[in-house]
Amino acid sequence: MPEALVVSFSNIMDSNSYRAEGSADPLIVSRERVLGPAYRLFYDQPVHLVRGQGCHLFDVDGVQYLDAYNNVASVGHCHPQVVEAVSRQMATLNTHTRYLHRDIVEYSERLLGSMPDAVDQVMYACTGSEANDLALRVAEMRTAATGVVITRDAYHGNTASTTAISPSLGGATSVGPNVRVVDPPDTYRLNADEVAARFTADVSRAADELIAAGYGMSSLIVDTIFSSDGIYADTTVLGRAVDEVHARGGVFIADEVQPGFARTGASMWGFDRHGLVPDIVTTGKPMGNGIPIAAMAARADVLEPFARAVPYFNTFGGNPVSIAAASAVLDVIEREHLMANAATVGDALRAKLAGVDDHRLGDVRGAGLYIGVEVVTDPESRGPDRAEARRLVNALRERRVLISVCGHDGNVLKIRPPLVFSLADVDWFYSAFTDALGV
Ligand SMILES: Cc1ncc(COP(=O)(O)O)c(C=O)c1O
Repeated sequence: MPEALVVSFSNIMDSNSYRAEGSADPLIVSRERVLGPAYRLFYDQPVHLVRGQGCHLFDVDGVQYLDAYNNVASVGHCHPQVVEAVSRQMATLNTHTRYLHRDIVEYSERLLGSMPDAVDQVMYACTGSEANDLALRVAEMRTAATGVVITRDAYHGNTASTTAISPSLGGATSVGPNVRVVDPPDTYRLNADEVAARFTADVSRAADELIAAGYGMSSLIVDTIFSSDGIYADTTVLGRAVDEVHARGGVFIADEVQPGFARTGASMWGFDRHGLVPDIVTTGKPMGNGIPIAAMAARADVLEPFARAVPYFNTFGGNPVSIAAASAVLDVIEREHLMANAATVGDALRAKLAGVDDHRLGDVRGAGLYIGVEVVTDPESRGPDRAEARRLVNALRERRVLISVCGHDGNVLKIRPPLVFSLADVDWFYSAFTDALGV
């Protein structure tokens, strides 16, 4: 058996995390003692939050922060309609999917109704990791192959099988022997033609290698906004690569945990921007606005070999309370026109950021309210400036604005606020940002 390919890429998960070792804060000391060193905190000065509302968070001293980072509370922290729906259902009944319940069926019809007709069945889990884990199993049984193609700094979850397709976890983990890694479509450093040709060629080569090595081609799994890779919103590359995957008998898994549920402002789903119909779609994070719920939707014929052979049960996945949360999230997205808001406010924020004349800001990109700002040493060499990106994240935190970083070199500012971000929030963000830059 070939040895596992040990990936020594930068550890993105750690590039925005801080070990508060030696801190005198009693809460941090107790936390370290009971949770152990695997848990990380954001920011040089960790934030102790006690309350949230809309796009705003409040710390233990009542200080208000602008949340420009959280995509779980996607329709806003503590949205009253979600809180009410969850509370009502919690006070009524919470069981599991081995009893009949109308709400899961109605929600599933609605969710599938937002996807292409071909994607016509859905199964539920609690986390994006579980949904991707399931997707890998479904793909394996459909294709009778185990080879998986991923992007260089992908993150798809924390289970054993999804860790094996998550090189962004870095050093201590390794991708599986059945996994091949391709570069993301770096539209900042390559021109449009080059980026598409290279991505397609890389995916084809990776698939051929997997076939030659005896794993066969099972799936290409991609976060369709390439978020952990550095946020690439280009829509010209994926289609051709997916054709190559299909030609080799594989399936395409669209990981919508990040771009899904209207975040990109163009569609409910990131894959839609690419004009693609996936074989499998996975969702998570924003789906329940904080209540754990995730899903794996697929074409019935893709699901069939797995579904016939494996009785699926997930104790909490798709329970009535989580379905109540998920239904309320869809209601709020529709009623408050959050897709349109993501488009308008996202455009406004990107335009303002692109207008900042500063050599450190190499590129402002993204779609809707998924925005990346590439921090570079200088615009000529386009060299990543990880230290300055980190400084900016902390400087913003000092100005009560919360963001983080992503990308191979940890130098891309990740700006991903709740979808209820307003133009007033854009102004707050912009003034803190220019102040942090010192321009
Ligand atoms: C693209 C993507 N897929 C999957 C996951 C895993 O989701 P979860 O943390 O809910 O297991 C994440 C989490 O950050 C993610 O960003």
